[in-house]
Amino acid sequence: MSKILVLGSCGQIGTELVLALREKFGNQTVIAADLKEACPTILNNGPYIQLDALDKEGVRSYIIGENIKEVYLLAALLSATAEKNPEFAWRLNMEGLFTILDLAKEGQLQKIFWPSSIAVFGPTTPANQTPQHTVMEPTTVYGISKQAGERWCEYYFNKYGVDVRSIRYPGLISYKSLPGGGTTDYAVDIFYKAKSEGKFTCFLNADTALPMMFMDDAIRATIELMEVPSEQIKIRSAYNLAGCSFTPAELAFEIKSIQPNFEIDYAPDFRQTIADSWPNSIDDSAAASDWGWKAHFDTKAMVKVMLENVQ
Ligand code: NAD
Ligand code: SER
Repeated sequence: MSKILVLGSCGQIGTELVLALREKFGNQTVIAADLKEACPTILNNGPYIQLDALDKEGVRSYIIGENIKEVYLLAALLSATAEKNPEFAWRLNMEGLFTILDLAKEGQLQKIFWPSSIAVFGPTTPANQTPQHTVMEPTTVYGISKQAGERWCEYYFNKYGVDVRSIRYPGLISYKSLPGGGTTDYAVDIFYKAKSEGKFTCFLNADTALPMMFMDDAIRATIELMEVPSEQIKIRSAYNLAGCSFTPAELAFEIKSIQPNFEIDYAPDFRQTIADSWPNSIDDSAAASDWGWKAHFDTKAMVKVMLENVQ
């Protein structure tokens, strides 16, 4: 089994993705890498290296030296954090991608996973059941970087045959690791506050619908997409993926059905504008027909698991 590198492994997705890949391929096969000096203890079951995605030569020599053949590139600034530092966000979100795409172009890597986001869509996109192919005029630096990344992935596939695969993740909801600065983070924070204080102040309005997904579905989708034979993958930009869509009020309603004393109020901040520019729900029929994608968790099931597991 050739080695797999997860770069940006200590974040919300990386933590769970590394654990799932190790379970499937063996602990020593999957190397976790991140800017952080030490990885979370949950990842102590396998190799870890401190690696800066912006250190092009460092990344290249590590991948070549270790004979790594597959990379999951997760290092990025998310939507809310990126708005506070647009220049750096653009640099981080694009440069690391080129380093990995070029390694694949040279034949050093066989397969790449690079995540896109619902942030590629913008205010001119049809908001309900947003189609795979539609108007895409993102208004955030994060969305612009993801849209550009998608274009480059497709270009490297068409021009150089690079086997790069991608998903437009919705907002991800998890309890094993915390989110890292996105507009959808409220949908994780709400569970911690529900458990610790019984109330939550939401930074989005009550009626702001956004596409969301429970992390188990997102990890399964990622691994399923990476296992599909190359010729089955018709979209080399990024696949739309749907889990469950809800508003903060609808999420609060589901929490109240299990925890009746839960209370929510609303104090929208700059993230409201970002959320308003994103879809309400996603049409993922292309992923369903090309590689058999189907979500398992609806909002009710996700809320139950979150309330049972959030510490
Ligand atoms: P996160 O912020 O939780 O984790 C990112 C990780 O990358 C962190 O551990 C951070 O230390 C690391 N990192 C940052 N700069 C680095 C660098 N220079 N070198 C190496 N590591 C570095 O993010 P996440 O939620 O796990 O997201 C991972 C990817 O998935 C990102 O590309 C993000 O845009 C995408 N995505 C996430 C979501 C979501 O809801 N979480 C939704 C859509 C897309
Ligand atoms: N969850 C991410 C964010 O809010 C979407 O890509 O930034």
